[in-house]
Amino acid sequence: MSARAWADTVPIDPYLFVIFGGTGDLARRKLLPAYFRLLRRRGFADVGKVLGVATREIGDAEYQELAAKALVEAGIDPDEAGRWCREHLRYQPVAAGFPALAERIDEIEQDAGLGGNRVFYLALPPSAFADTVAGLGATNLHRGPGWTRVVVEKPFGRDLESARRLNGILHRWFDESQIFRIDHYLGKETVQNLLVFRFANTLFESVWNRDRVETVQITVAESLGLEGRAGYFERAGIVRDIVQNHALQVLSLVAMEAPVRMGAASIRDEKVKVLRAIYPLRPEQVVRGRYTAGRVGGVAVPGYLEEEGVAPDSVTETFAALRFEIDNWRWKGVPFVVRAGKRLPRKLTQVAVSFREPPVCLFDTDESCQVHANVLYITLQPDEGFDLAFDVKQPGEGFELRTQTLRFRYAEVFGDLPGAYETLLADVLCGDQTLFVRSDEVEEAWRILGPVLDLEEPPEEYPAGSWGPVSAERLVTGWLVH
Ligand code: BG6
Repeated sequence: MSARAWADTVPIDPYLFVIFGGTGDLARRKLLPAYFRLLRRRGFADVGKVLGVATREIGDAEYQELAAKALVEAGIDPDEAGRWCREHLRYQPVAAGFPALAERIDEIEQDAGLGGNRVFYLALPPSAFADTVAGLGATNLHRGPGWTRVVVEKPFGRDLESARRLNGILHRWFDESQIFRIDHYLGKETVQNLLVFRFANTLFESVWNRDRVETVQITVAESLGLEGRAGYFERAGIVRDIVQNHALQVLSLVAMEAPVRMGAASIRDEKVKVLRAIYPLRPEQVVRGRYTAGRVGGVAVPGYLEEEGVAPDSVTETFAALRFEIDNWRWKGVPFVVRAGKRLPRKLTQVAVSFREPPVCLFDTDESCQVHANVLYITLQPDEGFDLAFDVKQPGEGFELRTQTLRFRYAEVFGDLPGAYETLLADVLCGDQTLFVRSDEVEEAWRILGPVLDLEEPPEEYPAGSWGPVSAERLVTGWLVH
């Protein structure tokens, strides 16, 4: 069953949606608004109840108020938000302990006739993760009377060893089929469309290999800086924050073989095979950067070391370019270069597939061959769409070539796209794990990046508003951005 079909039409069993970290930033800014929008899209059929759990010592009414405020800030009508929160939201302070939580869950389920299906969403800092999972296990909440699912947010560990430990903690109580590890990039329509683009259209499949592709570049650029998250980012850096998860997920979808069928097991099997075919990175395959003061979008911004909460001797990278080699039959010798960074000129997530140039250059001038490689630009966000660059003859005498593009834009055809969290919540509620990351994928991604996670040299500098340190150019023959 596809999430989209469920989200809009298919009825589901009643459920209780428990949000640990229910008063936190993620719950307020993303989860509650996305959940509300999802329900609204379905005409509020089959609504479950929501139980927020957090450290604040507040009651149901205060929680309902806090949640309604968050919905209003997300653009939802105040009356509608207030009514829905009063009717469906409950709160339980975490300090009351897990046995009390179990009783509360029972009580809400009895009152509302929910039947014991439960989602436990861990919107928590990593430090609270182990105790929460153990608490659920110790009170038998990991196996309810109906289905029980646990949703885990990133960061999932900070290296291979810690990820294995976290997987161990989860697997002590939950079966992998109950675990939904979120990478919100997989909820983006354009990221899912990589599967459709590749496996519903035969045109590109025959050229999607080392014989025809010269290089694949994946850019995950943001113009934003730290946004008050120095505490988290200082310990993470861009490799942990973006590359280990979002960028490697996109890379797997671009490089994977066709799955046997559409379904979580087959798709995740193929993605993990790509990661398994990548050797751990050597330091020379990586260029790390850190922004200095500059201008982004015409606004002056401080350098990373001047940001509040950043240590003066910090070696955290805010930019990384990494050259991956996939050692398999399809891709051997084709560099997959990932570039991710904060305070770059603009927000852009894009895959650029550059095809090989023609073997003979017929249209050369005295100086050089004029022919350009065909490039397929898949823009995942913003301005979502595709551009295929190809050469044409400029009208007139001789053979002057000009590069032109075939262009498709989602917005022009489909209008607004649903948000990633809406899609992912729909999938959790209907039990579809396709867009969630399996334990072996997480571990493989950490294995590949292991040697470059804790480099001690200070990163190279780049001015905010530029595309990163100039030396990143040694990893590619030229950056492609459309
Ligand atoms: C998050 C990172 O996972 O993704 C943030 O922690 C980053 O640092 C964000 O800003 C980017 O997400 P999006 O959907 O805006 O590309």
